[in-house]
Amino acid sequence: MTEEALVYVERNELRQLMKDKLMNAGLPEVQADKSADLLIFADERGVHSHGTVRMQYYSERISKGGYKLQPELKFEQTGPASGVYHGDNALGHYVAYEAMEEAIKLAETSGIGIVGVKEMGHSGAIGYFAKQAAERGMVALTVCQSDPMVVPFGGTEPYFGTNPIAFSAPRKNGVPILFDMATTVQAWGKILDARSKHKSIPDTWAVDDKGEPTTDPHKVSALLPVAGPKGYGLMMMVDILSGSLLGLPFGKHVTSMYKDLTEYRRLGQLHIVINPAFFGDKERFLEQVSEMVDELHAVPPAKGFDKVYYPGEIQEDVIKKYQESGIPVAAEIYDYLKSDEVY
Ligand code: NAI
Repeated sequence: MTEEALVYVERNELRQLMKDKLMNAGLPEVQADKSADLLIFADERGVHSHGTVRMQYYSERISKGGYKLQPELKFEQTGPASGVYHGDNALGHYVAYEAMEEAIKLAETSGIGIVGVKEMGHSGAIGYFAKQAAERGMVALTVCQSDPMVVPFGGTEPYFGTNPIAFSAPRKNGVPILFDMATTVQAWGKILDARSKHKSIPDTWAVDDKGEPTTDPHKVSALLPVAGPKGYGLMMMVDILSGSLLGLPFGKHVTSMYKDLTEYRRLGQLHIVINPAFFGDKERFLEQVSEMVDELHAVPPAKGFDKVYYPGEIQEDVIKKYQESGIPVAAEIYDYLKSDEVY
C-alpha cells in the first residue's frame, strides 16, 4: 500500500464496519461476525490482500445470490478420526471455522482429526483456521483449492489456482508459529497493482499467453508457481487433497472467483489436526518448538537482514505496530464501509 489516500482505523471499529456491511448485504449475523473476524485477522497482520479490499466483492456476491445465506450445515463423521463438513455453499469463512472445530474434537479423542470441507464459498486467509487449532494446543495443516490462474510448470495455459497451504504449531511461552502461503510467486493483486501504477514487474512472477515470462503487467495471462516444478507439485497436492478427495471440481474446472457472482463456487478445503499428546510428551513438544524459535533467533542474520524470523513473526510485529497506529485502509474503501452502499 502506498501512503497516499490511506486512513488509519482502530481495529475494533474496522471489524464492526465490516460486520455491519456484510449484514446489510444480507449475511446472517453469526456468519457476518465470523467473516469480520477473518478479514480483520488478515488486515491486522498486514496481509491486506485478504482484508478490507475484499469487502465489495463479498457484499456483491452475497447480494447477488452467490452464497447460500440460510445454509444447512452438516458434519458427517466418516471414521474414528475423519469426517466431511457439508458447507452447502455458504461463504467459506464460517463453514471452514466450524469444520475446524470438528477436526479439533476428533483430534482430542483420536489423536488426529481430518475433516474435508465440501462445497463452500471463498474462505480467505486460511492461516486463521490453522491458528484456531494451534491455540487449542494442536498442530494443524490446512489446504484449499482456488480457481485456475497459474500455469503448470512448462505450460502456457492456467490450470491450478493459487492453492494456499497453512501450518501452525503451538509452543511454550509464545504465540503459535504460523506459516501461511499461496503456492504462487506473487498474488494476482500485485499484478493489478502494477497495472494501475503502470509499473513493470519482475520476470519471475508471471507469463504471457505464450507461456513466456513477462515484465509487462498488461500482458500477464497467468501466474507462476513458487520454485518452478516444486510449487507446481505443491499446488497439485493441494488440489487433490481439497478437491478430488471430496469429489469436487478440480484444476481448471474450479469455478471462477469473479466471472459469475450469482453462482455457487463449490470449493473444498482439508483440515488435518494432530494432537501432540498422542505422539509423545506434549510439554516437551511445546518446549522443543520454543527452543527451535530461540535457536533460529540466534542464527546470525545475513547481509541485508536484521534478524531471522520464525514464520508468522513479521505479521505478529505488524499487529503490535497497528495497535499504535491503527490499520491502514484505502480512503475510498473506508468511505465505502461507512456508506449505505452494498457494493
Ligand atoms: P506471504 O508471502 O506474505 O507470506 C508467506 C509466509 O512466509 C508467511 O507465513 C510469512 O510469515 C512467512 N514469511 C514472510 N517473510 C518472512 C521472513 N522474512 N522470515 C520468515 N518468514 C517469513 O503470503 P502470501 O503467499 O502472499 O499469502 C497471503 C495470504 O493469502 C495467506 O493468508 C493465504 O492463506 C491467502 N490465500 C488464500 C487463498 C484462498 O483461495 N483462500 C488463495 C491464495 C492465498
